[in-house]
Amino acid sequence: MSKLVRFGVSIADDILNQFDKIIKEKDYPTRSKAIESLVRQFITNREFSNANTSVTGSINVIYDHHKRELVNELTNVQHDFQDVIVSSQHIHLDHDNCYEIIVVNGQKKKVEKLANLVKGTKGVKQSSLCLVTAGKEAD
Ligand code: NI
Repeated sequence: MSKLVRFGVSIADDILNQFDKIIKEKDYPTRSKAIESLVRQFITNREFSNANTSVTGSINVIYDHHKRELVNELTNVQHDFQDVIVSSQHIHLDHDNCYEIIVVNGQKKKVEKLANLVKGTKGVKQSSLCLVTAGKEAD
């Protein structure tokens, strides 16, 4: 476990006032916790700029249930990316729509390629990729 370090920071008072207002709205317990969260995000953004970073997350897809070719195509795409797909869950959202969650883990550039292929499949209504990283490079 990391040990805590104290450090002094000089910042313009109007910026600090705005910051304090935001952290109160977002229910951060302390200013230190909010700053730590921002610094962590700063580090993560840098890690995400590396295409070889190992990422974990999900591709969330909504598509038309009635388009049979689309269902086959989405399945075929997923069979080509087994090395980065952990699992998938299919939810029959309503009469017309299916919701699929594809859980991914692996090299960022490969995961993004899969997400782009899914998003580009004809008949997909909406697709979003949500990623997190522990900051390690993929094997
Ligand atoms: Ni369905």
